[in-house]
Amino acid sequence: MNKTEILAQRGAKVVMNTYSRFPIAFDHGEGVYAWDMDGKKYLDFVAGIAVNSLGYSHPKLCAKISEQCQKLMHVSNLYYTEPQIELAELLTANSCFDKVFFCNSGAESVESMLKLARKYAVMKNKPGRDIIAMEKSFHGRTYGAVTATGQDKYHKGLDPMLPGIKHVPYNNFEALLNAVDENTCAILMEPVQGEGGIVPADKEYLQKVRALCDEKDLLLLFDEVQCGVGRTGELFAYQVYGVEPDAAAFAKGLAGGVPIGAMMAKDSAAIAFQPGDHASTFGGNSLATAAGTVVVDELVNGGLLENVKKQGELLTKKLLELKDKYGIITDVRGIGLMQGIELSIPAGPVVADAIDKGLLLVGAGANVIRFVPALIISEEEMNEAMEILEKALENAK
Ligand SMILES: Cc1ncc(COP(=O)(O)O)c(C=O)c1O
Repeated sequence: MNKTEILAQRGAKVVMNTYSRFPIAFDHGEGVYAWDMDGKKYLDFVAGIAVNSLGYSHPKLCAKISEQCQKLMHVSNLYYTEPQIELAELLTANSCFDKVFFCNSGAESVESMLKLARKYAVMKNKPGRDIIAMEKSFHGRTYGAVTATGQDKYHKGLDPMLPGIKHVPYNNFEALLNAVDENTCAILMEPVQGEGGIVPADKEYLQKVRALCDEKDLLLLFDEVQCGVGRTGELFAYQVYGVEPDAAAFAKGLAGGVPIGAMMAKDSAAIAFQPGDHASTFGGNSLATAAGTVVVDELVNGGLLENVKKQGELLTKKLLELKDKYGIITDVRGIGLMQGIELSIPAGPVVADAIDKGLLLVGAGANVIRFVPALIISEEEMNEAMEILEKALENAK
C-alpha cells in the first residue's frame, strides 16, 4: 500500500462516513497544483470547490495569516478587532451593501439571511413569513439552508423540514409570480446556480424579480456563496447583472481557504437585526477576516478580477471548441471562472479519467462537469487543463 492508501484506510475508520471520497490524500500545494502523499502532481480545477481563490501557498495570504495568528487569533464578538472592521469596510465600500454579519460557512450565511428575512417581515408587520426559493438550488446543509435547497435528494430522511419555504422553477418569472402571495416575505436564489448544474440566471428574469420585490416590499436574497467574491470576474455576481439584492450570502473563496461566511445587507434590511438577534462565536474572527482582507485586496487592487475575466474568456473559447469536436458535450455554460459543460453521458467516468491523468475536476449534478479553478490561474495552466480534459473526452466518446 502506498501512503495515500494507508491514510485513506485510517480515515475510513475514524471519520464519519458522510462523503463519497476519491482514493486520494493530499499533502501540499503551490499555485494551482496540489501533490498527494506519494508525490503525484495534480492540476487543480476544483480549488476546494471554489474556495482557494488565491491558489495554494499564496505568499501574501500565508504571510498575513502567520502575522495575524502571532498577534491575535480570536476574541469574542463582545469586542471590536481591526481585521474584522477592515474586511467589513472593504466589502461595503465595494458593494451596494451597508452592513456585514460574519459567520463561518456558506450554510450559516444563508441561515443568517433567512432569519433576517423573517425578522424583516416582523419589523414590517407583514402577515406572513414565507420564503420562495428555487428548484435545483443548493444552499447548504443546516436545517434552514437545506430546506431552502430545491433538490429532494438533500431532504431525504430529514422531515419535518423548516415550514414556510416553497420552491419554484428557476429562470421562470411566471411561476414565481404565481407563487407570491400575501404571506411571502422574501425570494431567495443563486444568481448562478452552482451545485444544480452551473446555470446562470437570465438578466431580464432578475430585473423582473427585482421589480416584483420592490412592488411588494419583498426582500431579494442572493446566495453568492459559490458565484461571489470574484469568481464571475466582478467582485460580486449581482454586479454582472446590474441587479442589486437586499441581502446576499458569501463564503467559500472569501478568505482563500480559511473558514468564513458573510451575510451582507442594505441598511433598509439590516436594521431588522438588533443586538441579541443573531450571533456566531467564531464569526469574523481576526484570523479569518485578516485572510479575507488579502483576498479582497488582491481582487480589487491586485488585478485579479481582470485575470478572471481574461481566463474566463479563454475557458469559454476552449470549451466551445471542445463542444464542436466532441458530440457528447451538449452545452457550455457559466460566467468567468465558474463554468460547466453538460454531457450526454454521466460525468463521473470522465471526471475519474481526468483525475487519473492529473487534472482535478468535480461534477455539478449527474452530467455536468464544473470548472472552478483558483482565480490566479494563468493562460498556460488553462491550456494544460484543456489538453488533459480533451484526452478524457476522447476516451469517453
Ligand atoms: C450556492 C451555495 N450556497 C451555500 C453553500 C453551502 O456552503 P457551506 O458548505 O460552506 O456551508 C454552497 C456550497 O457548496 C453553495 O454552493
